[in-house]
Amino acid sequence: LQQIATLLQNALAGGEEIAIFEHIKGFLCPEEGYALMLLSALGPGPGEVVEIGSYLGKSTSYMAMGLKARKEGVVYAVDHFGGSPEHQKGQRHEEEVLAREGTLLEQFKRNIELNELQDHVQPVVSDSLSAGRHWNKPIRLLFIDGDHSYDSTKADFQMWERHITVNGYIAFHDVGDSWIGVTTFFNELLAEGRYSLRLAVGSLRVVQKKE
Ligand SMILES: C[S@@+](CC[C@H](N)C(=O)[O-])C[C@H]1O[C@@H](n2cnc3c(N)ncnc32)[C@H](O)[C@@H]1O
Repeated sequence: LQQIATLLQNALAGGEEIAIFEHIKGFLCPEEGYALMLLSALGPGPGEVVEIGSYLGKSTSYMAMGLKARKEGVVYAVDHFGGSPEHQKGQRHEEEVLAREGTLLEQFKRNIELNELQDHVQPVVSDSLSAGRHWNKPIRLLFIDGDHSYDSTKADFQMWERHITVNGYIAFHDVGDSWIGVTTFFNELLAEGRYSLRLAVGSLRVVQKKE
């Protein structure tokens, strides 16, 4: 808590800047973003920071900002940048960048560069499961925010969680609201007992792997 307070104090006193990412379109509220930023800055290591589902870089930026404060590491931003089913033409969160450019990737890169965070972001342009098959490093913080169906959330978890360090964190977005698939899987995970709930902010839920 002391470390978190110091980081925020420094930012407010004009020291290490905490950028405002409101110009980046996304689905995180600032409180959720700051929670991710602090986990990325102060969470126990060693291990990598991986995000499944980066969209236009909002959550990526918060976590990258945390790594910038920590003065080490990159966010591995795993996304095929083709959008989820709800971002496609005619769907409920139709994305104009996708319609215009055919991919989210170039706007994602522009957003990251605008905040000068490119040294702390490594895009992994791939389907989550394909990238996961080739992954071989320990992970201290995994943020799962890709396809929100039950089957995909479960598949993402099962593919990546084997790399989570003891005491490492997994964050899920869109738990407890209208995303039934994510919420159902998350409740099953908690009931299973291998992870403890550590943080609930908005629809962000953070669990920690037990010893
Ligand atoms: C809800 S958005 C992520 C929002 C982002 N985390 C933010 O806070 O702004 C979901 C993203 O997951 C990506 N996605 C969906 N299914 C995927 C898959 N199977 N593999 C990789 N990325 C996927 C989509 O392209 C989309 O960009």
